[in-house]
Amino acid sequence: MRKLMVVGNWKMHYTVIESLQLVMGLNNNYTRDVNGQTVEIVVCPPFTALADVGRFLTQTEIKLGAQDAFYEPQGAYTGEISVPMLKELNCEYVIVGHSERRHILKEDEELIQKKFAAVLRYGLIPILCVGETLDQRQKGETEKVIKRQLQSALKGISEENSQRFVVAYEPVWAIGTGQNATPEQANEVCSLIRKELSDILGNGAGDWISILYGGSVKPNNAAELISQPEIDGLLVGGASLDARDFTSIINAAKK
Ligand code: 13P
Repeated sequence: MRKLMVVGNWKMHYTVIESLQLVMGLNNNYTRDVNGQTVEIVVCPPFTALADVGRFLTQTEIKLGAQDAFYEPQGAYTGEISVPMLKELNCEYVIVGHSERRHILKEDEELIQKKFAAVLRYGLIPILCVGETLDQRQKGETEKVIKRQLQSALKGISEENSQRFVVAYEPVWAIGTGQNATPEQANEVCSLIRKELSDILGNGAGDWISILYGGSVKPNNAAELISQPEIDGLLVGGASLDARDFTSIINAAKK
């Protein structure tokens, strides 16, 4: 189902205490419904804070997400965290294929496909990130790159799961740079993603899947980005680390 969403990816920021301070601040600040519009709000703290933040969030309407997960349920995989482990902590969402994991941690498309499938298999909702680098955009390869990323991640997906995920368009050149995609650029690629989802999955699936934009979303550009017809929500990095900024972005999403 297509939902209006605002997701905060905290990346490698905040201890347990700091994380709790942030969600408490957020919970005091925001209202979820305005004019009958409901925004699905998700925060993705680091693994170490998930348990405590998850416990706190059970008293709120904010949802919990993880930034990554391994594809096996358990085993000899030193340092990894499985989807069932995340489920136990009240996680509902898992980010998969974030560009920092693709580029810094060298995750390839096969690994991302396995993680995406595992998140679905164990009943959580993947937020699949796709996006081109600056070099790829300048060479006119954006469409090709996005299609390849979607086709490989969705390989083997079952009919039953074919609308149970979220896609985030995060152009690599816009992440953490202060240079967001223009609303038109973001809308154009989100539209392409929707079409490609329908081509891959059939049944007009693209019309039912939430597509988020991420990359230097701030309180001052959120309203313009979210007002685009193909953009259902925002995936926010830096600005999600401050309760007031994140609340402003949530409020912008409602307008
Ligand atoms: P910034 O909002 O800091 O650019 O990060 C975007 C992002 O990577 C969210 O996943």
